[in-house]
Amino acid sequence: MDHAPNAVATPIRSICCIGAGYVGGPTMAVIADRCPHVQVTVVDLNAARIAAWNDPDLSRLPVYEPGLDAVVGRARGRNLSFSTAVDAAIAEADMVFISVNTPTKTRGLGAGQASDLRWVEACARQVARCAQGHTIVVEKSTLPVRTAEAIRAILAAAERESEGPTPSFSVLSNPEFLAEGTAISDLEQPDRVLIGGEDPAAVEALAGLYGAWVPPDRILRTNVWSSELSKLTANAFLAQRISSINAIAAFCESSGADVQEVARAIGTDSRIGPKFLKAGPGFGGSCFQKDILNLVYLCRHEGLDEVAHYWEAVVTLNTWQQHRIARLVVNRLFGTVTGKRLAILGFAFKADTNDTRESPAIRIAGDLLEEGAQLAIHDFKVPAERMAADLGLEPTPPDAGGGPGAAALSGEGAWWPAASPEEAVAGADAALILTEWQAYSALDWAALASRMRQPAWVFDARGVADAAAVQAAGLRLWRVGQGESAP
Ligand code: UDX
Ligand code: ADP
Repeated sequence: MDHAPNAVATPIRSICCIGAGYVGGPTMAVIADRCPHVQVTVVDLNAARIAAWNDPDLSRLPVYEPGLDAVVGRARGRNLSFSTAVDAAIAEADMVFISVNTPTKTRGLGAGQASDLRWVEACARQVARCAQGHTIVVEKSTLPVRTAEAIRAILAAAERESEGPTPSFSVLSNPEFLAEGTAISDLEQPDRVLIGGEDPAAVEALAGLYGAWVPPDRILRTNVWSSELSKLTANAFLAQRISSINAIAAFCESSGADVQEVARAIGTDSRIGPKFLKAGPGFGGSCFQKDILNLVYLCRHEGLDEVAHYWEAVVTLNTWQQHRIARLVVNRLFGTVTGKRLAILGFAFKADTNDTRESPAIRIAGDLLEEGAQLAIHDFKVPAERMAADLGLEPTPPDAGGGPGAAALSGEGAWWPAASPEEAVAGADAALILTEWQAYSALDWAALASRMRQPAWVFDARGVADAAAVQAAGLRLWRVGQGESAP
């Protein structure tokens, strides 16, 4: 059903992106910024999200990304718009990006591993219904291998069933490699742009768009399946590196080595390289776990049990690392945290984002709540409502006098949002650093220690605290991959 080059509407004049999330919003903002001659409309069913993208106050965009406000500020109202009118935007577009969520299935066949393609399928049907003329459909979300085939089948049916002028479609895979927190620079200076497709004219139309700012040798063309699988493989390799260094971190702690020294030493081997070797509380984010579980599911489906098992171990180690940290906190605090106040510094899955999807903080805080701890949680960007939804527990503050709330007395776990690290540590027996926010490496530990209940601990799961300052303040310190040091 793909078309000969002369059947394709090139160059692209009008783009519709379905899904105004972490991927769709920033990606389209950069395309609009770099291609002022192309009309870009980002649509979403979620009216509140669209309203936030249209907020005149650029500090209130629904996605926090350094530099995003400037890009949106330049393009919005010129050739970038955000709307809930999905059908109309599809009808006007030469090219439709599908950038909707593909979470792991929670029920039915493949539950817990396979990706839920419900939203992608709904989009494909909507495109089939509304598209006019020739439309290039680009799968942009992280999608399991062979999704393009499903999209293609739905669109092909539309070609057959059409009563009016026959619509026609080309399907491309164009996986997103942006990382949150650096999305704008990843988009503006990508290591590579990957375009998978069987219709050369459609591939060139998309390559032409990126060509406005990406050097030609960084635009890679592959077949659709290779493109889809490359996305899963890249994330699987990256996640594997983190589980590998976290595994070594645990061994360092028990054997007296220092994981930061080991990472530096191995990172100088040009075959290994220095990036992605930071030990921590385990990886989070919307992609790594989902993509690996998806790979595991697909390998099992192909009868490759050993391969599935190999990749599954990356996730198992990651989950273990999170439970391990919660467990060691309990152990160091004399075997119990029931009724004790602990400060959680950082709830986002990494610094410079407000995203908490699969954040290690959720599992670690969850384990501590289960043990009856009283958590004061601080983050620079995550709102309290998000924390409550992730923890499945509404906040209950300490009593008005700052004493233990009713939950503490009953032995139940409880939490409340703290407006600053200073507020979080008040009366706490320990502070846990779970996100590597820059500001956490410059905390005034002498001042913080004076607010804590002694003997107090700092558990630095990111290895970012100023160790000398922590110890000089008379605090006990545990650091991931380095273990414990007394003041
Ligand atoms: C990732 C991929 O990097 C990106 O290419 C893909 O498109 C989407 O998934 P993202 O999830 O935004 O991006 O963040 P990333 O920077 O990769 O970090 C993922 C997790 O790994 C975070 O929780 C981070 O804290 C953790 N991490 C990363 C480490 O623990 N150590 C490291 O050295 C690097
Ligand atoms: P990602 O990280 O992949 O961008 P998000 O969950 O942040 O994922 O964003 C996906 C967006 O897609 C959500 O805002 C959701 O409302 C939107 N969405 C899902 N299905 C549809 C659909 N059929 N039409 C329009 N928007 C959709």
